[in-house]
Amino acid sequence: MKVGFIGLGRMGAGMAARLLEAGHELTIYNRTRSREQPLLAKGARAAVDIADASRADAVFTMLADDIALENVVYGDGGMLAHLPSGAIHISASTISVALSERLTADHAGLGQRFVAAPVFGRPEVAAAGRLFVVAAGASDAIERAGPLFEAVGQRTFVISEEPRAANLVKLSGNFLIASVIESLGEALALVSKGGVDKGQYLEILTSTLFSAPVYKTYGDLIAREKFEPAGFAVALGHKDIRLVLAAGEELRVPLPLANLLRDRFLNLLAHGGEALDWSAVGALAARDAGAV
Ligand SMILES: NC(=O)c1ccc[n+]([C@@H]2O[C@H](COP(=O)([O-])OP(=O)(O)OC[C@H]3O[C@@H](n4cnc5c(N)ncnc54)[C@H](OP(=O)(O)O)[C@@H]3O)[C@@H](O)[C@H]2O)c1
Repeated sequence: MKVGFIGLGRMGAGMAARLLEAGHELTIYNRTRSREQPLLAKGARAAVDIADASRADAVFTMLADDIALENVVYGDGGMLAHLPSGAIHISASTISVALSERLTADHAGLGQRFVAAPVFGRPEVAAAGRLFVVAAGASDAIERAGPLFEAVGQRTFVISEEPRAANLVKLSGNFLIASVIESLGEALALVSKGGVDKGQYLEILTSTLFSAPVYKTYGDLIAREKFEPAGFAVALGHKDIRLVLAAGEELRVPLPLANLLRDRFLNLLAHGGEALDWSAVGALAARDAGAV
């Protein structure tokens, strides 16, 4: 398939490499053009501009946030004006439900198709082609995009004909991960101030009732205070919690834990932690306890 890929950050670079390895003809674009180099060496073609990258059967976007995606789609020479009729915009970024709805309507108005396909998994998982894809959109478009999802992920969950549903699932998932980071941080602060070895404590947790990958991955990062380099940056975690709260606002769903997490992220941002990994939220409880 002739595929465009816009946004080669931590996640996009790995996903684009997997598409190339699967044999797709890939045209790439990134705002900071130097980031395209490793993929050009693997056989991708550098787009002249966003419009050029948009002239394909399917175009992935994997951008930081709503503003970045709006710039790419609606800006001068943007994707909306150049994606061919019938072609598919596959939006893998974690964006708001509201923007997903707007994109669904605007692409449909021009005879283009929009599929929301946010992903679970960190950059190393993306590089290994082992992401979990949560896809929603018209069934024929999802079917056409199937081989692309297979290239970037280990499993695709098709959940709805309405793209917005996939964005809601992704946001709720990130809310749960952030909740785990906070609660792990509190539990680790408690036991370690009480003199228990953090490594041994995590071994007990993760080999018994808490054997899920999320406890293993984040427990280890928090216990070792390994917050740099960021796999998923605090700034993006803060963005996601705000989007969770906006979705709750829209649907009239109070989310008390999400409010607490928003303050945790603000705490890190206020102290210069923007570029740290979001697992740094898990260090705040120890700080509150005077344990560091
Ligand atoms: N990292 C993770 O673990 C993870 C996991 C699942 C989902 N996600 C989601 O995936 C998306 C990408 O995450 P990431 O970790 O890859 O982020 P990242 O490394 O910060 O990359 C962000 C990408 O967006 C581009 N960008 C930012 N602002 C832009 C703008 N105004 N106009 C055009 N391009 C812009 C960046 O271009 P430049 O190179 O020019 O800065 C870069 O290509 C986010 O929505 C994130 O929430 C991340």
